[in-house]
Parts: sequence; C-alpha cells; structure tokens
Amino acid sequence: MKIFEWIGKDKSSVKDVADSRAGDLLYFDLLILGIPTWGIGEMQDDWAVFLAGLEDMDLTGKKVAIFGLGDQESYPDTFSDALGTLYDSLSETGCEIIGSWSTLGYEFVESGALRDGMFAGLVLDEENQQQLTDLRINDWLKTIIPNGKSEGQPSHI
Ligand SMILES: Cc1cc2nc3c(=O)[nH]c(=O)nc-3n(C[C@H](O)[C@H](O)[C@H](O)COP(=O)(O)O)c2cc1C
Repeated sequence: MKIFEWIGKDKSSVKDVADSRAGDLLYFDLLILGIPTWGIGEMQDDWAVFLAGLEDMDLTGKKVAIFGLGDQESYPDTFSDALGTLYDSLSETGCEIIGSWSTLGYEFVESGALRDGMFAGLVLDEENQQQLTDLRINDWLKTIIPNGKSEGQPSHI
C-alpha cells in the first residue's frame, strides 16, 4: 500500500495476488510485484498458483519491478528467497525486469534473491528494519519511475 500511495492512487491500481491471474498482467505497461518468503525459503500458495499461470506467457515490452518481504534475523539462510523464484519465472516471459537493489545495510548469510551480487529487486524487512522501509521504498521507486510521483505510469502491485 505504501508503494501504491507513493505512485498515486489515480495513476495506479493495486491487486492481491490471491485475486489475480497471470493474464491480468497484460493490461499494464509497468508492473510492480511484491512477494513475501514463507516456510523455509518458500513462496505462499497464492503465489505458486499465480506463477504456474505465468508459464508460456509473453510479456515482451513490459517493464516489471519486483520487491520481496523477508526476515534476515530469523531466516538468515533463506533471506527473501521467494524474490529469486519470482525473478526466475519472470525471466522466461520476455519482460524487462528493472529495479535491482544493493545488499548494503542488510545482514544475512544466504539469499536466493541475489542475481549478479545484487538483490533482484527491493528487499524490505519489516521485522528488523522497519525504520528503513519508507526510505528504501522512496529511493527504489525513484530509480524505477524516474519522472517522479506526478509522472508515474499505471502500475499493478
Ligand atoms: C512461518 C514463517 C516462515 C518464514 N520464512 C522466511 C524465510 O524463509 N525467509 C525470509 O526471508 N523470511 C521468512 N519469513 C518472514 C516473512 O517473510 C516476513 O515476516 C514478511 O514480512 C511477511 O510478510 P507478509 O506479512 O506480507 O506476508 C517467515 C515468516 C514466517 C511467519
């Protein structure tokens, strides 16, 4: 919701993955997808169903930014792993994945969200670093929507 508010409610729409199908992605040019990690490095069932529907989809021409929610202190070996799973599924669709994020400021042992030394998208840790969330969202969104709030393109979160 914070991301939705930052972009502007008039320029974007937000949907729960549980109420969405992969085909819904076709209606948007810029997509922002957020995924928490559960179990031990797993995604939630709703996301598993959604990603199964993503197979064989063509998202060529779409820009997709992804973010993950995790807990680096309790799950230091599987920190935000589901973000990497989402990245891999999207990589097969021809879309452009934007918004990789530095690991500076996080403390973890292993993360399946790493691609070329960076997180594949923004990582938020509401359990241990809640005070950094607003700043991280702000800095990240400025990189994926460079024209700022007033020029934001329609998004799906
Ligand atoms: C049972 C359980 C398992 C979790 N497993 C992981 C994990 O493997 N890796 C991780 O980074 N976070 C893990 N977390 C932390 C959640 O990702 C974190 O609390 C997140 O903010 C939840 O977001 P949500 O409330 O939007 O679903 C786990 C949390 C719970 C309760």
